[in-house]
Amino acid sequence: MSRIPRGRHSRVRLAVTLAAVSAVAAGAAIALASGADAGTTLGASAAEKGRYFGTAVAAGKLSNSQYTGILDREFNMITPENEMKWDATEPSQGQFRYTSADQIVSHAQSHGQRMRGHALLWYQQEPGWAQNMSGTALRNAMMNHVSTVAGHYKGKIYAWDVVNEAFADGGGGGRRDSNLQRTGNDWIEVAFRTARAADPGAKLCYNDYNTDGVNAKSTGVYNMVKDFKARGVPIDCVGFQSHLGGLPPSDYQANLQRFADLGVEVQITELDISGSNQATAYANVVKACLAVSRCAGITVWGIRDSDSWRTGENPLLFDGNGNKKAAYTSALNALNGPGSTVSTPPVSTPPVSTPPVSSPPVSTPPVSTSPSSPGGNGCTATVSLNQWQGGFVATLRVTAGTGAINGWTVNLTLPSGAAITGIWNANRSGDTGAVRFTNVAYNGQIGAGQYTEFGFQATGTGSGITPGCSAG
Ligand code: XIL
Repeated sequence: MSRIPRGRHSRVRLAVTLAAVSAVAAGAAIALASGADAGTTLGASAAEKGRYFGTAVAAGKLSNSQYTGILDREFNMITPENEMKWDATEPSQGQFRYTSADQIVSHAQSHGQRMRGHALLWYQQEPGWAQNMSGTALRNAMMNHVSTVAGHYKGKIYAWDVVNEAFADGGGGGRRDSNLQRTGNDWIEVAFRTARAADPGAKLCYNDYNTDGVNAKSTGVYNMVKDFKARGVPIDCVGFQSHLGGLPPSDYQANLQRFADLGVEVQITELDISGSNQATAYANVVKACLAVSRCAGITVWGIRDSDSWRTGENPLLFDGNGNKKAAYTSALNALNGPGSTVSTPPVSTPPVSTPPVSSPPVSTPPVSTSPSSPGGNGCTATVSLNQWQGGFVATLRVTAGTGAINGWTVNLTLPSGAAITGIWNANRSGDTGAVRFTNVAYNGQIGAGQYTEFGFQATGTGSGITPGCSAG
């Protein structure tokens, strides 16, 4: 696609758009016969079905009028893309910083948009000081964080991602290893109880990726939610990130439904879709949500392709110039099509009060997390860093392209002075300079558009690492 000359590219898109417009015209009689005034924006059309349509927003882009023009015309729910994460809101222990997140909240409030809070606890974008903690000290710091941040935004958040990505990929269906997990398996329920006490009005969600179909990982989450409901742990919703590389899995709707049947709301929280059947894939996701009465809404992970974290994959609904893509028209038509108009009222658990715990302030240097970059045949690799004085943890994500892969190799060059001291979920050759990682037995096979993660700890600094990926 990117090699098609610009003029030709535009003509292709225009032809697709015109075809979609005439398809709508052809269906107009049916739409009128149903008595519904089809909405002309994503937010209005979703609202007609008792749903919301949201997007991730970056505070730094709120000064761009093309960006806010689309945001305020099309979307009625906002998730801060990074501004409410732990490293952003508590960069040093006990010192909270809300400037960027508050900017987004105030934009939402003045434009009639609701907020999803994202994310109170996540093993990524954890500040360096927390990354270096363990045991009781970390448990206390984690509860203090949840309680303080959820308390700051009390009454302003529709739903919080209380815990993000706590389950492991692969066939085990168990928890992901992290310093949070190592504080004890009950860390997730403690987080939910603490969040409920801090903001009893917010829906509390568990959010994850690769849980879009019925598989070992989604079943692991399902069993946790079932157990929480049985024991009265306050959980109200499950978020399905839905970072897809093509059509959603064929059991996507059935998977949403089985969670809904546990008595929780389901939400599509970070939708973006690469690949040639993007328009159909967006329509299928919308139809699946409309078919599940407890599916409260859909959030896409950015507005224009140029805003996407999936650089070069063009997985969003607007192109880099802010024009509506075929996928937009397809999503809008699906929202205006048949589907449940009933949004089931909140299914929630009674508030449970848990006293906040505070921990002594400790000053630790800040941390940086950077997304990155390209890959080779059949896969891409990105890195995020948690850096502290003298060392860092790098988490690498290997994503298959439009076809499944059966093995992968990631190459990168460590900056001088950096040396690997520990590694998980991969084999490696070399500790310094040019280093090569290959899959281990259980994570070589990755479905189209799906991903797996591995990581390493090292001395020195990790900034500027650019991983390359090749399949096989
Ligand atoms: C991503 C952001 O889009 C990037 O800007 C950032 O560098 C890394 O995080 N799952 C999540 C989101 O829950 O928070 C991630 O957002 C994408 C994957």
